[in-house]
Amino acid sequence: MRQLSPPQENQSRHFAGAKLRAAKCRNCPLWENATQTVFGAGAVVTPLMLVGEQPGDKEDRAGLPFVGPAGHIVDRVLSQFGIARENVYTTNAVKHFKYQQSGKRRLHKTPVQREIEACRPWLLEEIEIVNPKLIIALGATAARSLLQRSIPIHANRGKQFLTASGHPVLLTIHPASLLRMPSADRDAAYQLFLDDLAPIKKLMLH
Ligand code: URA
Repeated sequence: MRQLSPPQENQSRHFAGAKLRAAKCRNCPLWENATQTVFGAGAVVTPLMLVGEQPGDKEDRAGLPFVGPAGHIVDRVLSQFGIARENVYTTNAVKHFKYQQSGKRRLHKTPVQREIEACRPWLLEEIEIVNPKLIIALGATAARSLLQRSIPIHANRGKQFLTASGHPVLLTIHPASLLRMPSADRDAAYQLFLDDLAPIKKLMLH
């Protein structure tokens, strides 16, 4: 097993404590219908953090972020840059699955501002623990939580902004949007997504 230096041990301890506290979070009503809190996962000693919107059906059941179809796209992108998922930290702006039951299916519902705000302290704590060199905001909800304002993604994708704590945030689309588009458009859109994320390759080499 890889030896951790004392500061890294501190990070790991802080992470474990925050995850335990988040498991009992009642800051908004979303916990009531969700299976569990889905806290961030991966390396806590890493230059790269990816932030999505909220767990989906698969993530809610597994208790891990980005393990469903959108997560497979994230894995594909990372592997194209030669990066293993376990070497980055992935999380979400909102840590409970918000959905509407439709027969046996649980259909995703976009979290509203007060739910994003209620969950924000957890995201800020994750940023404090990991202290990444770059945060990727995957879509509008992540961008809104990280930058505390609403920013049109398509006009700003590939650009970097700073959080209040001074952490750079690179904006891009949410990978699930690729799954929703007509298959004829998907390859070109995937390429644009890769282009947005090009800075992460160099980041992970240092
Ligand atoms: N979409 C997200 O934003 N996050 C996940 O963890 C899964 C799907």
